[in-house]
Amino acid sequence: MSKPRLFITRELFPDVIEKLKKCYDVEVWDRYQTPPYEVLLDKVRSADALVTLLSDRIDCNLLQQAKRLRIIAQYAVGYDNVDVECATRLGIYVTNTPGVLTEATAELTWALILAVARRIVEADTFVRWGEWWRTKTSWHPHMVLGVELRGKTLGVIGLGRIGLRVAEMGKAFGMKVVYYSRSRNEALEKELGAEYRDLDTLLQEADVVTIHVPLTKETYHMINEERLRKMKRTAILINTARGAVVDTNALVKALSEGWIAGAGLDVFEEEPLSPNHPLTAFKNVVLTPHIGSATYEARHAMAELVAENLIAFYEGREPPTLVNKEVLKIRPPGFR
Ligand code: NAP
Ligand code: GLV
Ligand code: GLV
Repeated sequence: MSKPRLFITRELFPDVIEKLKKCYDVEVWDRYQTPPYEVLLDKVRSADALVTLLSDRIDCNLLQQAKRLRIIAQYAVGYDNVDVECATRLGIYVTNTPGVLTEATAELTWALILAVARRIVEADTFVRWGEWWRTKTSWHPHMVLGVELRGKTLGVIGLGRIGLRVAEMGKAFGMKVVYYSRSRNEALEKELGAEYRDLDTLLQEADVVTIHVPLTKETYHMINEERLRKMKRTAILINTARGAVVDTNALVKALSEGWIAGAGLDVFEEEPLSPNHPLTAFKNVVLTPHIGSATYEARHAMAELVAENLIAFYEGREPPTLVNKEVLKIRPPGFR
């Protein structure tokens, strides 16, 4: 039997590709940019398996033309770019990479919280571009003042894997932790000393609001104008989940009119973000280019998990991090 054909939409790690080559006939899209939709369409027509990134749009139109496709292994934990319902209907397995990027994303979240609270990017610019030198300030009691976190309230929206780690780190900083999530976890509340709030109460109480829900129909624009108006004028908003959980236009308005004190954003409704976007004009906003999982450790572990899923499927086993379990009833794993 010839090997099933695997199309990978971006370069992963060579050791992982070698592993995959034992089971699959591998083709890698080796450009830095996302393959255009037309290229994806062309590639999936002959692919048995696919490795996708969150920037690849895998919609129902594409899936319907992927007659041989049996499995999509997403190289990310979030999979809002994949029409999973449609995939399930067509008997296509979808896997993701949960857990292995939790630490990296929680740490990036804290990097943003600290960067906004202590104005790190502004301070760096002040030194680097010679303002400190020119003004001969040396040291001044009022220079680049920020806010302290100890004793303040951290509001976590979505207490899943990443939200929980961010909450634990909040405890280490001496913050009070409140959370809002789809389901309450009372055991965890006791263990962590976190308190549950409904979303509007959380927004009213928190000094730092940090978003960790997936992007779904329910969470789209969850943080809208009305909700932003509920936040404290001194509060900071952090988003390392998905851009579209926040209504960007409302956020720009909130920042322009001072409804909130600042924001740290790793994700955007449109990526890449244009340098002309109004968000780039605010000094009290720190922007990063969707690098939540961008550590050597996480990215390699994600690639390993993608390979584990694909190899399990090849061997006729249930992939370890299968997203659409219902597909098991439609078609058994494997290429036979
Ligand atoms: P997770 O463990 O599934 O956590 C998500 C949490 O959100 C769960 O507790 C879930 O509740 C809750 N939730 C889902 N829908 C909700 C709703 N409508 N209202 C309130 N709460 C809701 O996922 P994770 O591994 O922590 O990842 C979270 C998200 O972070 C991913 O989906 C991804 O979009 C994003 N992410 C971004 C980066 C980055 O590079 N910036 C990196 C990694 C992840 P239940 O417990 O009831 O399911
Ligand atoms: C990154 O954004 C992910 O969902 O893994
Ligand atoms: C600051 O550098 C201090 O010593 O207080």
